[in-house]
Amino acid sequence: MAKFEIEREFKLDGQPFKIISGSIHYFRVLPEYWEHSLRNLKAMGCNTVETYIPWNIYEPVENQWDFNATNDFEHFIEIAQSLDLYVIVRPSPFICAEWEFGGLPGWLLKYPGMNYRTSDPLFIEKVQHFYQAILPRLSRFQITEGGNILMMQVENEYGSYGNDKTYLRTLVKLIRDAGITVPLFTSDGSWDDTLEAGSLVEDGILATGNFGSKPDWNFDQMQTFFDQKGVQMPLMCMEFWDGWFNRYNEPIIRRDPVEFAETLRAMVSRGSVNFYMFHGGTNFGFMNGCSTRGLKRLPQVTSYDYDALLTECGDPTPKYYLAQAILADYNETALPTTLPKTSGQLHKVCEQTLFDSLAQISQVQKTQQPQTMETFNQFYGYILYRTQVKSTQKQQKALLVEAHDRAQVFVNGVLVKTLYQESLEAEFTLDLEAGINQIDVLIENMGRVNYGSRLQSGAQRKGLGRGLIIDLHFESEWEIYSLPLDNLQALDFKQTPQSADNPVRFGQYTLDLEGVGDTFIDIRSLGKGNIFVNGFNLGRYWHQGPIGYLYLPAPLLKATDNQIVIFETEQALPDQISLLSEPVYIETDNQDNYKKATAPI
Ligand code: GLA
Repeated sequence: MAKFEIEREFKLDGQPFKIISGSIHYFRVLPEYWEHSLRNLKAMGCNTVETYIPWNIYEPVENQWDFNATNDFEHFIEIAQSLDLYVIVRPSPFICAEWEFGGLPGWLLKYPGMNYRTSDPLFIEKVQHFYQAILPRLSRFQITEGGNILMMQVENEYGSYGNDKTYLRTLVKLIRDAGITVPLFTSDGSWDDTLEAGSLVEDGILATGNFGSKPDWNFDQMQTFFDQKGVQMPLMCMEFWDGWFNRYNEPIIRRDPVEFAETLRAMVSRGSVNFYMFHGGTNFGFMNGCSTRGLKRLPQVTSYDYDALLTECGDPTPKYYLAQAILADYNETALPTTLPKTSGQLHKVCEQTLFDSLAQISQVQKTQQPQTMETFNQFYGYILYRTQVKSTQKQQKALLVEAHDRAQVFVNGVLVKTLYQESLEAEFTLDLEAGINQIDVLIENMGRVNYGSRLQSGAQRKGLGRGLIIDLHFESEWEIYSLPLDNLQALDFKQTPQSADNPVRFGQYTLDLEGVGDTFIDIRSLGKGNIFVNGFNLGRYWHQGPIGYLYLPAPLLKATDNQIVIFETEQALPDQISLLSEPVYIETDNQDNYKKATAPI
């Protein structure tokens, strides 16, 4: 059995060991491609793979556990083991990672007073259930048990959120109680205050740093911190940000490969490293996270390409080869491989409005006042609120109160307003008929904040929290339709004529491919929505860019009879949609948030 120790250096079987690791989030890559990605990692000269484990995919509803194949980290670790790769796991209740709610499950929002990421006993009780479900499945893979897991993280950049050491120590105890015996570590920004707030070096828990540039300066800071604390610990950059993530309507962030390689050379000569990301993958489904700027919410896009060392679809990039040339001084390297690509076309068969589909995919629930989506045990997707309003006036003032995140308002079946960001909180005018009017408010949850103080805000509850004011009063008596869009096989398509009045539709398409391979759905002729392939939610698209495609990996396709459904909220669905053999982008020169979006590298 191999022995891994943390002294002034990492030691493996008594010998100094440099960890050269890369992040692959198995939950952002299909299981069929895990081996491909891991082989490329090894071929680049890495000896270790690192991954988070997000709580919300395992316990999507409280006390209901999901360990299906896409969640099967045991299989992922087994493949790594078969390739002689070590593993670092970060199964924190909070992972950040540009992942919906930073990995926290949406049902936590049903406990109004709960204080996340603190020693609040209610939060700890829920974390304990998570740990008890996850950690025993990891314990057999620990290096202390003859496996390949080297070490495990406590929390995630906690110094950028809180300084509740009782909380950190409680997590350590829960982890140990669940049978974890490998060394533990924290990761934080490398400056003094955040290391002080987020680390537990006095308890013998390794502190690692997260940074993308100036390795000498950052390692010096960490060394000074260790010296001040009187501890001897190895220097490791747990997140070497080799690229960055993207948000809608902002230019794509890319990092110069040569500058990246120079940084890597200096970093690896001094300490251990984990590339964040090695392979970024995709925020499939509704699982993207969201940044904030003031009160503004800035959701992240579906692609988590990250400008990483492998592309979103797993192909080596110029940065990969530059890194490989440097890492060849440390480990064996080999030729990486790419996966086949193909092109083709989607052909429209039928389209049907959301309103005509409601009874097929949702069950109406009646309430006096609107309530958030979480109240209905729905955590992702869309939700529709419907009421009948009696009016004697033609024009009325209206206001949505506590709507999150994007609303489309219909009067008698006709779209009259789309409200987003600032306009969501602003009064608007409704043209009504004299008599009874049906008002529908369709609300999209665009992803919960995954970083910073707004993690706790009321805006994390989605849908319509308070209600709709018309004239001066809240309207009551609502019909509510949950639309998590997880059962679209129930759609019974009947053609509804195209109409700009009601652009919210499902489109049914057939697929025509020129060969077997991964492909990229060109979304540039679409508006906004999601695409479903044989029931699998590929993720959101939006013509705002900067990404002009949705990645469709080959394992999602069948030889014949593929069912493609598009949920589109902005405009009529085109008759043909191209499938491309490479990604396409939508240029945007919007600089509003760009500076804030740029990586601190
Ligand atoms: C931090 C977090 C990561 C990720 C990166 C940015 O370092 O720890 O989870 O959010 O920022 O990509």
